[in-house]
Amino acid sequence: MTTIIKNGTIVTADLTYKADVAVEGGRILEIGPDLKGDETLDATGCYVMPGGIDPHTHLEMPFMGTYSADDFESGTRAALSGGTTMVVDFALPSPGQGLLDALQMWDNKSTRAHCDYSFHMAVTWWSEQVFNEMEAVVRQKGITTFKHFMAYKGALMVNDDEMYASFRRCAELGAIPLVHAENGDVVAELQRRLLDEGNNGPEAHAYSRPPEVEGEATNRAIMIADMAGVPLYVVHVSCEEAHEAIRRARMLGKRVWGEPLIQHLTLDDSEYAHPDWDHAARRVMSPPFRNKRHQDSLWAGLASGSLSVVATDHCAFTTAQKRFGVGDFTRIPNGTGGLEDRLPMLWTHGVGTGRLTPNEFVAVTSTNIAKILNCYPKKGAVLVGADADLVVWDPEKEKTISAATQQSAIDYNVFEGHKVKGLPRFTLTRGRVAVHDGEFRGEEGHGQFVRREPNGAVNRALSSWKELTAPRRVERTGIPASGV
Ligand code: URP
Ligand code: ZN
Ligand code: ZN
Ligand code: ZN
Repeated sequence: MTTIIKNGTIVTADLTYKADVAVEGGRILEIGPDLKGDETLDATGCYVMPGGIDPHTHLEMPFMGTYSADDFESGTRAALSGGTTMVVDFALPSPGQGLLDALQMWDNKSTRAHCDYSFHMAVTWWSEQVFNEMEAVVRQKGITTFKHFMAYKGALMVNDDEMYASFRRCAELGAIPLVHAENGDVVAELQRRLLDEGNNGPEAHAYSRPPEVEGEATNRAIMIADMAGVPLYVVHVSCEEAHEAIRRARMLGKRVWGEPLIQHLTLDDSEYAHPDWDHAARRVMSPPFRNKRHQDSLWAGLASGSLSVVATDHCAFTTAQKRFGVGDFTRIPNGTGGLEDRLPMLWTHGVGTGRLTPNEFVAVTSTNIAKILNCYPKKGAVLVGADADLVVWDPEKEKTISAATQQSAIDYNVFEGHKVKGLPRFTLTRGRVAVHDGEFRGEEGHGQFVRREPNGAVNRALSSWKELTAPRRVERTGIPASGV
């Protein structure tokens, strides 16, 4: 059975051209003019692009005394509906739990996925067992990225010595460390002070996590990665202070990638001043939304290349879950949704305004991610032999985002009321048409795990450079006799 995507314009990270695409057996079979097959998808007036890859989701995540409400079923249904064809979730060992044990739990959750997925492994505590199991995670399990939380003191947070040890291990294994960069000690102190002063509403969440704590932690993580001789990926970069640290590091030749979220690009901190407690609490996430100055910095980073990818950090909690924090903002589960809305919002506010080209859009939503995570060109490409994870994008199609019509399991949407122009006409996951003109036709369990290999090109290059420039003992002549 061959499916032909007909009369579209192919848009990749580096090319724009008119051609048909033939899909067979889950892969791209042929690209060219006037292709024939068994079934046709009309892409007239549309762009045919690599499906989005969301490198940062938390589906059914145990967190702050509850579980995030979207699981791999509703989460990947939302993803496909918005043109995203792969998600990368986080396996999170609880303190004392082995990495392989935790991974088994995430393997069980992901069996319901509608689209392909991969995992990052989190390092939430440190021991010889963790050190040893990191090798099995990389070599046997095909997971080559390790997440470190510099915040959430008393829960997921790791200290500098643990982070350095883990980064060194990543360097040895050809893996890449990720960081949630906020100074967890200072955040904990600010939280306590705010509560003592009677500041217990959701706005205090933002006061407790100012840009300075993110900037400091980003600088620290970059330094530790540099000392450990390993590339670094900084998740949810929300402010100029963190972006500045990444920009400066990149200018100095360090291998650092920054990941802003669609929420931080398009929503600002005025949301926390909303008189309705629920409205503000639904937008509590870490780092919090920032002001326009920070948003401009993030957009500039995407345009200039100092920031590399756009994610969602999709971690959706219902209003009832958010209300755990009435009277104490530190108990509001941190996280917001976005999987269905990332591509339409970025197209509307990025390509629609001229802040991004369509090719840059593909780069930051798919191709750059696939390259960094070392699954390109299986993913993130429109090339013969690549997986047929494709979105046929209609730049004229419009809608107003609303919880009433979303796929996510929660009862609100942080983008409620936003008008978007640019939506999928079709989304294909390994050749299967999962979204057909607004109708969801996915199949639970169709999604497969995407194994990734260690030692990508950047790891190899950085290791060579670090080896070449490593401190070396000076061999001396004329050593004075001892005791003289
Ligand atoms: O508030 C957030 N971001 N929740 C999800 C967990 C994390 O920090 O990424
Ligand atoms: Zn985080
Ligand atoms: Zn996250
Ligand atoms: Zn908008």
